[in-house]
Parts: sequence; structure tokens; C-alpha cells
Amino acid sequence: MKTDVAFADFKKFKTDSLVFGIFEDLKLDKNLEDIDKVLNNAIKEIIKNKEFKGEFKEIKIINTLGKIGAKTTIFVGLGKRNEFDIEKLRKASGTVAKFIMGENIKKFATTLHNIEIKEGISERAQAVAEGTLLGLYQFTKFKTEKEKIKQIESFVLISHKRDQRIIDGLKKGEMISEAVNYVRDLVNMPANLVTPEKMAEEAKKIANESRLKIKVFNKRDLEKLGMNVLLAVGKGSVQEPRLIILEYNSGAKESIALVGKGITFDSGGMDIKPDEYMRDMKNDKAAASAILGVMKILPKLKIPLHVIGVIPSAENMPSGSATKPGDIVTAYNKKTVEIGDTDAEGRLILADALAYAVKNYKPHAMIDLATLTGACIVALGYEASGILGNDRRLITKIKEAGEKTYERVWELPLWDDYKSILESNVADITNFSMSRRKEAGTIAGAIFLKEFIGKTSWAHIDIAGPAYLPSDREYMPKDATGIGVRLLVQLLSDWKRHK
Ligand code: BES
Ligand code: ZN
Ligand code: ZN
Repeated sequence: MKTDVAFADFKKFKTDSLVFGIFEDLKLDKNLEDIDKVLNNAIKEIIKNKEFKGEFKEIKIINTLGKIGAKTTIFVGLGKRNEFDIEKLRKASGTVAKFIMGENIKKFATTLHNIEIKEGISERAQAVAEGTLLGLYQFTKFKTEKEKIKQIESFVLISHKRDQRIIDGLKKGEMISEAVNYVRDLVNMPANLVTPEKMAEEAKKIANESRLKIKVFNKRDLEKLGMNVLLAVGKGSVQEPRLIILEYNSGAKESIALVGKGITFDSGGMDIKPDEYMRDMKNDKAAASAILGVMKILPKLKIPLHVIGVIPSAENMPSGSATKPGDIVTAYNKKTVEIGDTDAEGRLILADALAYAVKNYKPHAMIDLATLTGACIVALGYEASGILGNDRRLITKIKEAGEKTYERVWELPLWDDYKSILESNVADITNFSMSRRKEAGTIAGAIFLKEFIGKTSWAHIDIAGPAYLPSDREYMPKDATGIGVRLLVQLLSDWKRHK
């Protein structure tokens, strides 16, 4: 889709649809008064007849062909003036864009970024771009009747006065949306087509186009390195596991490791999942895909940091060669792990990846993302990711980035008292204890990971809920959402010296 910025008179601008926002107080600003005059008070008439109340996300379309430059004019309700914020701006933009697409309208211009809120014009332009481009996402790769797919061709941010900040905001929003939609596509791709090998190929493509350093360890490399916990998860599958490392180095001293769970399919392994729970498990690579999305745009944003993206990837399957409950393996950091449950595989592949990142890169801070536990969906639903860690400042920074992007995180405790949940009779630790299976599932996952990070400043984000939705939101689609990209890009953009 094409996007553009126009500095023009709203009345004269030629387009299929022109979009305005109206608050519940139904006050028309100068622009709308202007247009209403040309329309012979059509807007006031609609308001008087209560055909439009300005309720948040309410939509009204009127025919303006021959009267102003736009063939139709669309009003979107913004709700209460004093409750309006940047997230509502994204949501209104997404809602109206989807409406326009549904009407099979091809081109529109929006004025929504001109509405004043506490954020500046550049951030508002970015929000409108993101709400629109993320809202219009569709996964159509496997639909062969392409002519049936409704698609908007272009949208324009229109303002009266020329302003470079609008151009910059739109560009940034476009760049970020492109990365998020790339991640959604990758996560929505089925497991027969996206394997650990394919994840590595994707990473190589990104490395080439963005000039990043890349290392890919295959099964033999992993054996040599002693990553037996990652290998244990992949053992049941014909698809061999990989460890993928992408490096973006702006020359800055400060280094941050981003680690993402890349299970391309989670059948549960020998502890096989019931059908209902297995169905969507191609989504278990959501975190790894988000890390790829972040690495893709870091060079474009020229963020002054050294960022290491670490992706352990495997397919979790049952078979004659699969890891069995009770097996004991030695991790990269030499700790012994009893496999209490083969379905708690995410923490296993992350364990070796985290230990590898710590030993070989000694990052100043490390953040891992994972669709780790169903328990996190029980606790927080689809509205927030769980966050746990050992560094208050790091968690606070991530929370702030979460509020800004609305990719919100909610903290759970990580007290040592929980450690006993994962005590093993036979090894240093177990990944799951049957006798204590009902206790603090999300926290137990983080307690396990904590054994592999040494003293590194670290936060773990469990994205199991927001990564994959059961139904559409304003600018979040059903299924893969690409969550994590906007959160981490915001965090890294705002980064100030950590230590
Ligand atoms: N990939 C799942 C977690 C998950 C569940 C993500 C639902 C998204 C939606 C993970 O590997 C898993 O199976 N977790 C188990 C852990 C348990 C065996 C300790 C779970 O949540 O039941
Ligand atoms: Zn699992
Ligand atoms: Zn999993």
C-alpha cells in the first residue's frame, strides 16, 4: 500500500474518502465548520437527527461527490474529549481503515493526526500510520482467488501547513508497521513450511538486507557446544534444531541481548497436548519472530546500541527418538536438568540460549520473550504480557515502553521462595514438577530461566496471551499479532545508559 503526506485545503483535496474525527461533545472545529458550509449544513443536520453521536469508534459515511474534492466524507467518533489519548488515536485509525476496506474504497485521506493530545505531531502521525497499517493487515498468502481480496491502495495524511514532522512520523510508523506485519506473516505461516531451518533462512535474509552479523549453529555445532537441553527438545523431530544469533552493532559500548523462543510447532512432545490445545501451536515461534522483526529495523532507526538477537529454534514432537519424561540432560552452563514434562520445552531451549548469550556476549542487560505458559493467559488474559526479572530499573523501563505502545506488561513476583517448586530428586533442577503442577505456572517458568542467567540484569516477558488472539481488535488481528516488536523498539529507542 502507498502512503503519502499532503499539505492542502481539505475541501479541495481529491480522494475517494476524507476522514474526520468528532468528539461526543459534537463541537465542530474550524475545518469541519468550513466543510459544513460547502455541504449546506449536512453535518449539523446529521448531528441534529442523532444519526451520529460521536461515540468512540462510531462511524458515519456521507456522499460528498461534486460538493468537495472527496467523493465521500467519513466521520469517526472519538468519544469523550478529555479521555482521548494516543492509543485511542491508533484504535480510531484502525477502526476507520477497516471500515473503508470493507466498503471496498480504494483511496482515502485522513485528518486524525491533527487532533491535539499531549504527544507531538510526529508521534500522532506515527500512531495514525500504525493504527491504519496494522489494522489493515490480512494473511492472504494462501488464498488463490486474489481478486476476492479487498485492499486499500493508498492513504494520505492531510494537513493545512507543511510540516516535516508529519513526514517523519509517517515514515517511522510505516517502518514499524512493516516489521510488525512481517512478524505476523511469519507466525501465521504453518509449521510444515516454517521449520527451524527456515527460521535460520529468514534470519539470513534479514542479515543480508540490514547488514547484520549472523551465526547459525546446526545440530552438530550444538552437540559440540554442549547445548544438550536445546537438543533434547528437538530430538523427536525430523527437523533439526538451530541456534541463530543476529548482531547489530552501532559501535556503542552498551549491549543488550534479546532472546526469543522459537518453537516452530509445539505438539507437547511425549507429554502430548490434547487436540484443542495443540491446534494453534504454530504460534509458539511468536517470540523468535518478534526478535527477527526488531533486528530488521534497528539499523533503519540507527539506534545507538549493540543488540544481540538470540533465537533457539526447534520442533517439539513425539517419536521413537524423542526425549522422555524423566530423562536427564546437561545444559550449556553444566547444570543438570530433569525433564519433568516435555511440554515445558520453551524454558528448556531458552536455558541454553540464555546461558550462551551470557557467557559469550556478557550483555549489560538481557530480555527474553516467550509464549511460555498457558498459566499466563489464565492470569492476565490477552490484555497484557507477564513480566518477571531481577532488575527493578530494567522492568520499570519495559513497563514504560509498554504503556507508550500499549503492548502492556504486568509484573509477577520472582521471590526465591518459589524455587522449591522446581526442586528435583535426581538432578540440579527439573523443568516441571507433577506434584506441584498447579502452583504459579508462569512464575515457575521464570524461576527455571533464572538458573541460566548468572548475575546478568534480566527480564523475562511471557507473551502467551497477546501474541495470538482469539478474535480481532481495533488494530490487532485474530491469530498472530506481532506483539513485542513495538514494545522492544520503543524500549531501545528510549534507552539511556543502564549501568
Ligand atoms: N507453548 C506452550 C504455552 C502456551 C499455551 C502458549 C497456550 C500459548 C498458548 C508451552 O510450551 C507449554 O506447553 N506450557 C505448558 C507448561 C506446563 C507443562 C508446565 C502449559 O502452559 O501448560
Ligand atoms: Zn509446550
Ligand atoms: Zn511451547
